[in-house]
Amino acid sequence: MIIPHPARLTRRAGSFAPAGGLRVLATRGAERPARLLAGYLRRPSIHSGPAIRLDLAAGHGPEGYELDIGPADALLTASTEAGLRNGVQTIRQLVPLHGPPRLPCLHVRDSPRLPWRGVLLDVARHFLPPEFLREFVDLLALHKYNVLHLHLTDDQGWRVEIDGRPRLTEVGAWRAESMVGAAGSGVFDGVPHGGFYTQRELRELVAFAADRGVAIVPEIDLPGHVRAALAAYPELGNRPGTALPVWTEWGISPDILGVHDGAFAFCREVLTQVADVFPAPHLHIGGDECPTTQWADNPLARDQAARLGLRDTAELHPWFLGRLHEIVADLGRQAVCWDETGHAAGRLPPELVVTAWRDAAHGALAVARGHQVVMAPHTSTYFDYRQSEEPGEPPREPVTTLEDVYRFDPLAGGLPVADGSGPGVLGTQAQLWTEHAPTPDHVRHLAFPRLCALAERAWSPPDRRYAEFRERLAGHLARLRALDALPKERVRFAGALGVPGKTMP
Ligand code: ACM
Repeated sequence: MIIPHPARLTRRAGSFAPAGGLRVLATRGAERPARLLAGYLRRPSIHSGPAIRLDLAAGHGPEGYELDIGPADALLTASTEAGLRNGVQTIRQLVPLHGPPRLPCLHVRDSPRLPWRGVLLDVARHFLPPEFLREFVDLLALHKYNVLHLHLTDDQGWRVEIDGRPRLTEVGAWRAESMVGAAGSGVFDGVPHGGFYTQRELRELVAFAADRGVAIVPEIDLPGHVRAALAAYPELGNRPGTALPVWTEWGISPDILGVHDGAFAFCREVLTQVADVFPAPHLHIGGDECPTTQWADNPLARDQAARLGLRDTAELHPWFLGRLHEIVADLGRQAVCWDETGHAAGRLPPELVVTAWRDAAHGALAVARGHQVVMAPHTSTYFDYRQSEEPGEPPREPVTTLEDVYRFDPLAGGLPVADGSGPGVLGTQAQLWTEHAPTPDHVRHLAFPRLCALAERAWSPPDRRYAEFRERLAGHLARLRALDALPKERVRFAGALGVPGKTMP
């Protein structure tokens, strides 16, 4: 039943079912993953007697583990806490949902295919409560995802409290209404909404995620997708005299940061505070969908391009990202940015990690140009897209089915896995954009079961068949239901085909 399937698994006869129930015993250094497992089993850890024993030992790699379960002993061994945590999630999936607690006898030797196994959650288009973020992180851990890419800012909302910039959250965290249906529909719902996270709430989330082996990579989307910041501080843009509301439409806005000292000071201030809250080695600086028309019209930007000897103001875009990369490097972190063509990558410092979201070929190009790449082609990894032709599915296309996701291979074409700091595919991630997903139940509907399929692509050897995955998934869905991971009722999306009162334009 395990998802993602372990690299090697041998089933044995019998089960481990000690008379006192399933309890946990940690040896030195394994206490934290042992506490996690004991919490899942709702039993205190013990110091002697029959128990699932967690041990640290050399030879299992940075994230691998070995699980050896016989009728009399259950032993989980790894070389790191991360490896033990991965084993804990496997054990969690082995405990039967019903009946007396026991583990099937088996032997597992397991380690991941890819180092970056991520999920982007967009909390900018719709604010999602911290309790849901914790629940979601725990479900990511269940599937051995190790990155939550938290999309904290966009045109439609600014969600992170920044000391010294109160208007970002007083103004930028709230929007008057949302567009219904596809971008450009011109239909609005009239419902104000918003919210933001205090730095303290985010630090608590970081700690909760770290306990589960999930790193939170924050994204501050720059220098485009900044309408919420410009609503708060118009002077950061190119038209300081123009008041802009937090955007109620969505798509690509021409309003971007200016190329001036005030804008760079703002970026440094925000990224410095964000790096302090999020200890992850990576920090995402956005970089996507940034039309440079306002720079072409702006004398400050034109002068800057001329001083730098650039051909035109469009070339300021990779230059701007390069400056952000320097800020992030000064903070001791590695910057990640979106890349939608593969071509910008040629003009970016190779140390910038690239999230390739349009076409896998762009990711391959970025690897050839020396980057580490997170493969996120939209046709396989954008889970805001409808997953079937059923009425009520979101107005986002193309249809991206469970099988489409399962058939996606982030290493297609023989791309190398990035090891150490060299170029290659670092991993893959799902995108949960939430323009059409106002509630946790909408997010749950978009996420499951497609996240189960991508988890297997990111973790497991690529030789498993879809039909066999579906068989395992049936039992796994029962587990997800027991964990309240699935929507309780059928979810419908505003603007969806077939939803009464709202039609797609
Ligand atoms: C994106 O979809 N603009 C990254």
